[in-house]
Amino acid sequence: MECEIWQVGASYDAKPYRRLMIETFGAQIHRSPSQLTEVGRQLAADPKNHSGSLGIAISEAVEVAAQDPNTRYALGSVLNHVLLHQTVIGQEALLQMEMAGDSPTLIVGCTGGGSNFAGLSFPFIKEKLDGKINPRILAAEPASCPSLTRGVYAYDYGDTAGMTPLMKMHTLGHDFIPDPIHAGGLRYHGMAPLISHMYEEGLMDAESVPQTECFAAALQFARTEGIVPAPEPTHAIALAIREALKAKETGEETVILTALCGHGHFDLTAYESYLAGTMTDEEVSDERFAAALATLPEVQQA
Ligand SMILES: Cc1ncc(COP(=O)(O)O)c(C=O)c1O
Repeated sequence: MECEIWQVGASYDAKPYRRLMIETFGAQIHRSPSQLTEVGRQLAADPKNHSGSLGIAISEAVEVAAQDPNTRYALGSVLNHVLLHQTVIGQEALLQMEMAGDSPTLIVGCTGGGSNFAGLSFPFIKEKLDGKINPRILAAEPASCPSLTRGVYAYDYGDTAGMTPLMKMHTLGHDFIPDPIHAGGLRYHGMAPLISHMYEEGLMDAESVPQTECFAAALQFARTEGIVPAPEPTHAIALAIREALKAKETGEETVILTALCGHGHFDLTAYESYLAGTMTDEEVSDERFAAALATLPEVQQA
């Protein structure tokens, strides 16, 4: 079976070892936006799309799948059934906490499309709704792509070209192309509908973190735990550290549970950039957010 992969341009450039690993196993990898699809060619013509995004890669994948009767498209995050599959994480964590004879007062996870965060937190939210525990549930999102804290709750497309069905979700607008931060997995304009709903219902909070704070936290974590985290979970680690320091000051007993959703062994170029002092945080202007939101589809609601 031939396997072709469209990888988000920013990740293709910044994560060469992932690409080489994939090629080692025999798959072909294309930088997205590519010249191989109609939608890729159209989007590549605009320099703003050069770094690519998960939304653009999804558009290219959907086009390829729609044109080939032997190809199927399956999304790895965002959709509610993916979130529910991931809840095995939280179910295991519930049992582990029980074995430890403890219960979290804070659960924090990073959010791209929302699958690892939902996977960890949903089983605990069920316990919370049943009145058995009352932890604070906190989503950690990148300052450059803050769909929960800066986006709107509206119907939008799951991809940049508008090929997917509409979903009611927190979104920065399907046209929003985030800056090429190292946490490529968090560069998604939208958020899973179930998480968006939970956020609207006030069952969870969200905070955004700039990437230099994330990598400072990553170094502290690596030197304490002996594990090098992927750029994505460094957002959750950074918020866990923020909250632990607050608790230290107030003296409040706090038990923090977080998901380490990936190791960073293929992300050492990001660590190189942080250690060399060349990593930067770009402020996203209100105008840029507003321009992307202006492209939201108009939906008539009954
Ligand atoms: C290591 C890692 N963590 C987190 C994510 C974000 O996805 P999600 O929010 O669906 O967990 C990604 C996405 O590619 C990832 O690679």
